[in-house]
Amino acid sequence: MATTGTRQDIPTRLAIGGRFRQAERGERFPVHDPATGETLAEVADATVADGLDAVAAAHAAQPAWAGRPPRERGEILRRVFELMRRDTERIAELIVRENGKPVAEARGEVAYAAEFFRWFAEEAVRNAGSLVASPSGSSRILVLHQPIGVALLITPWNFPAAMATRKIAPALAAGCAVVLKPAEQTPLTPLLLQELLAEAGVPPGVVNVLPTTRSAEVANAILADARVRKLSFTGSTEVGRVLLAEAAKRVVKCSMELGGNAPFLVFGDADLDAAVDGAMIAKMRHNGETCTAANRFYVEASVADEFAGRLAQAMAALKVGHGLDPRTQLGPLIDSCTREKVERLVGAARASGARVRTGAMRPDGPGFFYAPTVLDRVAPDSPILGEEIFGPVAPIVRFDDEREVLRQANDTEHGLVAYVFTRDLARGLRVAEALESGMVGLNRGLVSDPAAPFGGVKQSGIGREGGHLGLREFCETKYVATGW
Ligand code: SIN
Repeated sequence: MATTGTRQDIPTRLAIGGRFRQAERGERFPVHDPATGETLAEVADATVADGLDAVAAAHAAQPAWAGRPPRERGEILRRVFELMRRDTERIAELIVRENGKPVAEARGEVAYAAEFFRWFAEEAVRNAGSLVASPSGSSRILVLHQPIGVALLITPWNFPAAMATRKIAPALAAGCAVVLKPAEQTPLTPLLLQELLAEAGVPPGVVNVLPTTRSAEVANAILADARVRKLSFTGSTEVGRVLLAEAAKRVVKCSMELGGNAPFLVFGDADLDAAVDGAMIAKMRHNGETCTAANRFYVEASVADEFAGRLAQAMAALKVGHGLDPRTQLGPLIDSCTREKVERLVGAARASGARVRTGAMRPDGPGFFYAPTVLDRVAPDSPILGEEIFGPVAPIVRFDDEREVLRQANDTEHGLVAYVFTRDLARGLRVAEALESGMVGLNRGLVSDPAAPFGGVKQSGIGREGGHLGLREFCETKYVATGW
């Protein structure tokens, strides 16, 4: 297999208080390449004591960081953006090795991740409050947005860089210090980012990185600590509910970016070239392992055969392989559990009558690969339409009526994103308004943008990341009643 790049020095120790150090008990855990099963590195395994050390370091560093002029904080963030661009190849290679995505996608992730630093470098100096006269005229209402304090950030494995920077950048712009607990499958990229943060001038203790296999134990201890004022989590709805219950014990402010079950609607008047291109992005970006992934395709019956045929052709043409091979367009799934879930959902859909247009099998060889798959004529009550697939599988359901397809699209506890393809602008906007989701891609298969408010409704989350609102998630609003 052709690969790009060479093995690099990988940071493998906890980053606490400006030092890389071993875990308190000296324990380590292995990180694997999901394409080969090979062990890439052994990483320090943080304990509760390490977690509390990280909180102490963040708590000690936060006041001085918050006291720096916003312009200085912004300039440091801007330097992180530049260093990430300088080190794109190094970061991208590490993402491929521990996550499995194709190297072109990994480079795209580095660019996306770095943009959060550029965006929030600019937002750091625009944390505007307000001053208005009270309606009675008896006082002035002065409103300030102050840094909330120490924040616990918990990030997933699907975007080891971008989900970390989407939280670190606004937290630092607001004047907070953070403890980042990355996913145990992908701790190496966040540790590498920590090196760049230090090189850019982020002071010791402002960002602490805590890989651990004891996620629940360590997170719960941190949330129980009175010095911690904020939790920002990206991950499954299931884990989000548990963390919300923990955070409730001390009424910790929470931002939750949780699971999705995105419907992808194709109306009969859609530009089918655009719809297939959009479907490939919405479904297959980052190996199909995104919470924004199109999970259910609803296609108007008049164009369903054509759409399904074209989508199957595009999916079958994807080159599957190790992400470091520059020809690869689809890498492995992250682990065996993820692949088994995909297989279970595809099996259930087939058992209830779905037709396989392409795929529905695991290729031979090592790694957690699964073939790009299109299932047509999926039964509306099939479990694959009710669960987040997190894999390269596109289930297609046919529809005849706008009201009915809206009912089906909204018939889920999730509401992160939805996609609509139509040439009729009035219909596009009407449907976008009626869809119960925090984001809508209208004739687009990609909504993610550091300048836009990313987030969901219903059980897909609380709060927004990115955009102007992203900074507010790390602020407390203070009102000062004044008279003069
Ligand atoms: C996610 O899958 O959690 C985030 C996807 C994105 O930011 O585009």
